[in-house]
Amino acid sequence: MSDASPSDQSSSVVAFPAPDREAYLRREKPPRVLAVANQKGGVGKTTTAINLGTALAAIGDEVLIIDLDPQGNASTGLGIDRRDRRYSTYDVLVGEATLRQAIVSTAVPRLHLAPSMLDLAGLELEIGQARDRALRLRRALAPLDDSAAGHVNFRYVLVDCPPSLNLLTVNAMAAAHAVLVPLQCEFFALEGLSQLLKTVDTVREQLNPDLTIHGIVLTMYDSRNNLSGQVVADVREFMGRKVYDTIIPRNVRVSEAPSYGKPVLVYDLKCSGSEAYLRLATEIIQREKELCVG
Ligand SMILES: Nc1ncnc2c1ncn2[C@@H]1O[C@H](COP(=O)(O)OP(=O)(O)O)[C@@H](O)[C@H]1O
Ligand SMILES: [Mg+2]
Repeated sequence: MSDASPSDQSSSVVAFPAPDREAYLRREKPPRVLAVANQKGGVGKTTTAINLGTALAAIGDEVLIIDLDPQGNASTGLGIDRRDRRYSTYDVLVGEATLRQAIVSTAVPRLHLAPSMLDLAGLELEIGQARDRALRLRRALAPLDDSAAGHVNFRYVLVDCPPSLNLLTVNAMAAAHAVLVPLQCEFFALEGLSQLLKTVDTVREQLNPDLTIHGIVLTMYDSRNNLSGQVVADVREFMGRKVYDTIIPRNVRVSEAPSYGKPVLVYDLKCSGSEAYLRLATEIIQREKELCVG
């Protein structure tokens, strides 16, 4: 059977009232997927996923955070009780639930979460032999660009990775458009970065040819500590323009917020940490425009 005739097609386009057509075109854009990754623990991955996500949502975008760490810190930090995690990212990656089924709303408007549970730690044993083991997240994300009625259309998906270059992180990189690397301003900041960059290269060669480094965000900067300034200079020299201008300061409000199940932007909007994450969101939107146009 042949498809609709050209005249049918043009009439259906013309029949769209202008504003609906605008909305329709907007909906068709697939979300941008950023993997927040660094195999070191405690460098600010989860904090960045939560607060960058909150800032992007505050600016007006629909945002999904995917918790890919068995520790579930992003889920807890966003105040999602274990009892409310009906399906987790484990269920999604083993194929027992769709991503849409796992998504829950957070207290922040436009910010959504696919939570994790400890069972995610066993995923590698479970699917380690499957041929598509590295592509599970990419497959799970694919249906998100559908424009079915009532579905949220995400502009950004942030994947909070575990502190390891394991199968979960590889899944995140295989599914992502770009990798966002939080780097703590400490003496060993650059140690391990080349290994991370090598993993990105391998994933690009074998699984995801368009994968790029979105940028490096320096975290926990302490202006009273001379070392912090030296680390910033070293990282900028090594990574050049890939380092965002925004630096996240060490700020006690940032570390207090998760115990209240709140992003710091909700806990204390005016603190230096919140201001920095808002600036980072603006910078990322700007960089996105350059990446998507270029
Ligand atoms: N800018 C910051 N100022 C103060 N504490 C921070 C900041 N960023 C992160 N932290 C704290 O540092 C610890 C590690 O951060 P986290 O985001 O969980 O790292 P990761 O996800 O890389 O393991 C957490 O206790 C967090 O609250
Ligand atoms: Mg974490």
